[in-house]
Amino acid sequence: MKSSNMFYLIYTLSLLLGLLCIIFVTVWSKCYRGGFAWDGTGMMFNWHPVCMVTGLVLYGNAILVYRLPFTWSSSKLILKLVHATLNLGVLSLAVIGLQAAFGFHNNMHIPNLYSLHSWVGFAAVIFFSLQWLLGFLAFLLPCTPLWLRTAYKDVHFFFGLCILAMTVAASLSGINEKLIFVLNAPNSTAPYKKLPPEAYLANILGVLLLCFSLTIAWMILKREWQRPNPHASALSDATEPLLTENQ
Ligand code: HEM
Repeated sequence: MKSSNMFYLIYTLSLLLGLLCIIFVTVWSKCYRGGFAWDGTGMMFNWHPVCMVTGLVLYGNAILVYRLPFTWSSSKLILKLVHATLNLGVLSLAVIGLQAAFGFHNNMHIPNLYSLHSWVGFAAVIFFSLQWLLGFLAFLLPCTPLWLRTAYKDVHFFFGLCILAMTVAASLSGINEKLIFVLNAPNSTAPYKKLPPEAYLANILGVLLLCFSLTIAWMILKREWQRPNPHASALSDATEPLLTENQ
């Protein structure tokens, strides 16, 4: 199969998987966990998984921006702005999602940041915020020296993938934790080990999230799917001066 056809096949699969993740997490929260509100109850908490999963799917698409062949004719500056804006959307979803979890915990007098899930998740959000800020300073600020931009590019790429892995780890542990909390509660009639429909749905959500992130990682890591740089021999992508057409 032609390499570009293969790319579009995996890209379509990733779009489908991302959409299914958002549908599954919304159905879980709405149909099994009582729906949504912003009142300090479990319904406020329900925004947490929905915002975090939607944020993860948006993040996957934000890091793919430079890989999409139909964007290669656009200027690099436009792509950078799209990438930064989509990631700002991810950050906003993460802040709302965290506020939902903290608000619920504070209202119910549950301690904050005690679980492994919350540690990994919180670290992922801190890394993400720093990555956004440093990316903005390095790649969008005209006064940043070219040597610094070049040196930082690989670091940005590496941490972008680390953050993807961390958010998947946080999401999977969060899903598992929530299932254990609600299905193994003392008054529960259908414990987790009996695999009731809710457990099926949320387990499948976890598998879908994993498959989604694997398709993203594959597209990101495959060298031949990287954006071609017309000036590669003369000047590397990262070192071109800001606001030139190829940026
Ligand atoms: C990128 C994804 C995620 C991140 C960064 C994240 C982060 C966090 C953080 C920082 C907390 C601590 C809140 C507090 O201490 O008050 C938390 C709590 C919680 N999250 Fe997530 N979360 C993510 C996804 C999910 C998902 C998909 C679920 C599935 C239901 C989930 C379930 C929970 C649960 C049950 C708690 C409360 C118990 C605890 O603190 O561990 N999380 N999350």
